[in-house]
Amino acid sequence: MRKAMAAVVLLATTALLCAPATAELTRLEHYSAKNDGSLSLLVVGDFGRKGAYNQSRVAEQMGRVGGELDIDFVISTGDNFYDDGLTGLDDPAFEQSFTDIYTAKSLQKPWYLVLGNHDYRGDTIAQLSPVLREIDSRFICMRSFIVSAEIVDFFFIDTTPFQVKYWTHPKDHVYDWRGVAPREKYIETLLKDLDEAMKKSTAKWKIAVGHHTVRSVSHHGDTDELLELLLPILKVNSIDFYINGHDHCLEHISSRDSPIQYFTSGGGSKSWRGFFQPNEDKLKFFYDGQGFMSLQLHQDQADFIFYDVDGNILYQYSQWSLRNTYLLQHPSYVAEE
Ligand SMILES: *[C@@H]1O[C@H](CO)[C@@H](O)[C@H](O)[C@H]1NC(C)=O
Repeated sequence: MRKAMAAVVLLATTALLCAPATAELTRLEHYSAKNDGSLSLLVVGDFGRKGAYNQSRVAEQMGRVGGELDIDFVISTGDNFYDDGLTGLDDPAFEQSFTDIYTAKSLQKPWYLVLGNHDYRGDTIAQLSPVLREIDSRFICMRSFIVSAEIVDFFFIDTTPFQVKYWTHPKDHVYDWRGVAPREKYIETLLKDLDEAMKKSTAKWKIAVGHHTVRSVSHHGDTDELLELLLPILKVNSIDFYINGHDHCLEHISSRDSPIQYFTSGGGSKSWRGFFQPNEDKLKFFYDGQGFMSLQLHQDQADFIFYDVDGNILYQYSQWSLRNTYLLQHPSYVAEE
């Protein structure tokens, strides 16, 4: 296990050092430790508050559930450090909001993280730096990348640059657009890279992860830029699930015009916004408080569970793979669809 993780980190470091401007997305291989190739993981978001606002309570339950499910890794949907990301490589918030909080044995696994809008208000180059892994080797944070775990490809997407208002109406916030500006060029390249990588993927499950909502009934609601620019690419490439944070709640929304299921896991700390605004899609579950999500993936089945601060199960959802074995063995059948 330790060896596997070292390999992952080395690969990531090398890729970051020599990534050309229009690169393929960095791809990390994560081999399941389980005999049947199945995968278990936790998803948490919007957490870094030095333990406050129930962050520590959520962390404790993640530790317990993580042990029970024997998780392979953890995904963060971003906003890893409030309010303004990290100030630099030596910011004590890195340990206070991450290392010292997620201490359970079961959580000593790789964490794959994206940046949220609050992270962009700090030194993004520091938060993305592999040097942080000298402090805590779990922290694997990149802008957009792929984690490939045999039966599944996770497409991590840097969604903050999509939101026009951060560029045009930053209010009193300063966003760190180093390596990103100009917006149009960055997004065009990213969407092209994503589309290519998704088209190449032969995994049973294809899952996209970003910080911002595509669909949400909570405070931030839908993100128009993602509906317009990203969603068509998710649809055309038959992405099964889109997982995000940004709204500090737990929710499951089912698309009415595609098989895509949307999951928000943004309950890592401050919640209870007291906001609800229905959208056009089908709301399956909404919880306005703190918590996290687990995901267990088998060849043919995906099981999602939402938990609250006390580890109580709030909601469960299971789905059979749409790419079933028959379709895989008869690719012409897929082509005709
Ligand atoms: C912590 O969680 C409990 C149980 O859901 C809730 O009653 C309380 O308001 C939460 N505290 C904060 C600061 O959100």
